[in-house]
Amino acid sequence: MVAITRPARLPVPEPAAQAHSLALVEHIRAAIEAAGGFLPFHRYMEAALYAPGLGYYSAGAHKLGEGGDFTTAPELSPLFSRCLARQAQEVLAALGGGSVLEFGAGTGAMAEAILDELTRLDTLPERYLILEVSPDLRQRQRARLARFGARVTWIDAPPPAFRGVVLANEVLDAMPVHRLELTKVGVFEQGVTWRGGCFAWDRRPLANRALGERAERIARLTEGVTPYRTEVNLAAEGWVADLGRWLERGVALLIDYGFPEHEFYHPQRHQGTLMCHYRHHAHDDPFVYPGLQDLTAHVDFSAIARAALEAGLEVAGYTAQAFFLLGQGLEGMLQEAQGDEQAYLALAQQVKRLTLPSEMGELFKVMALARGLDALLSGFALHDRRPTL
Ligand SMILES: C[S@@+](CC[C@H](N)C(=O)[O-])C[C@H]1O[C@@H](n2cnc3c(N)ncnc32)[C@H](O)[C@@H]1O
Repeated sequence: MVAITRPARLPVPEPAAQAHSLALVEHIRAAIEAAGGFLPFHRYMEAALYAPGLGYYSAGAHKLGEGGDFTTAPELSPLFSRCLARQAQEVLAALGGGSVLEFGAGTGAMAEAILDELTRLDTLPERYLILEVSPDLRQRQRARLARFGARVTWIDAPPPAFRGVVLANEVLDAMPVHRLELTKVGVFEQGVTWRGGCFAWDRRPLANRALGERAERIARLTEGVTPYRTEVNLAAEGWVADLGRWLERGVALLIDYGFPEHEFYHPQRHQGTLMCHYRHHAHDDPFVYPGLQDLTAHVDFSAIARAALEAGLEVAGYTAQAFFLLGQGLEGMLQEAQGDEQAYLALAQQVKRLTLPSEMGELFKVMALARGLDALLSGFALHDRRPTL
């Protein structure tokens, strides 16, 4: 029997959505069986989010915004994207031209606001490329961005040599993570099995060398606290290694929630950072409503920085979102609206959500990875947090 798990306080999905979820449960159950009864967690997460036609991102769940499961900064306010546009403009000017390449463009809200801002500033890039793995979101982006014509192009893989600005807002956190469990009797890889008609956590002794080395590093940081369950995002590090191969000249701006490793692998964070979002309810059970809920883990920015250095990239900036936005003239944008009280109040509210330490201002970080760029990036001038990495 196949059952859908649901913590008591979550809303109940419509029958069609339940049927969709059950189809994905079947798909993953078959994968567990084919793998001998145990699927490492990153493979479960990959299927739950990206299984063709079934995964949360691949298929038609509403996902972002008010009617969806979670909200991101570009959904919250165009001011966020306008600040990124200004940083992009500065880089493109220093390079003497180039394109923008956005990864994981969601509903297209950020691309739209960036293109509008660059139109206003009369500095449109040669091309605005989008690499989106979700066919559903790609379709929504096409409809939203149609008015920009052929300047916006969707690509399936990065160009072999790219010059310009790469953007990725909340993309690294959506990549499948490995789950480790450090115990008194050894280190295990956590994964998923099928027991009593539903998914259940299971574990196997760690077999992967890269993860073994990481586990030793984590053990030093966690000061021997056991059991300690946490995540390692090898996919994000692989993405950065790849970036090092195709970024010829320019900057990649990575915006996400996360910490340097000494905070990420803090002894008190012994349950890790894995989070699930369903209709704006956050919880930590990844086996609830597969295909209908988002799964995400925070980003270890020290690991991203190490991967960048190994790939021959420079870590050109790292700061908290609030400082980045303020460094890009967020306050001035708010002042522009002062003549219109209603608009001003709405924007002031958005500025609070984007910058207050209790909202997105401190948890979210911005990291710039660069190659062949001497110019200073103004978004990182207010507060340089690179020494914390
Ligand atoms: C949490 S959503 C963020 C969407 C958007 N950037 C925003 O801020 O509203 C994650 C996005 O990343 C996409 N994504 C995940 N892995 C990706 C990858 N390896 N390459 C490109 N897009 C990816 C998802 O399909 C989705 O569009």
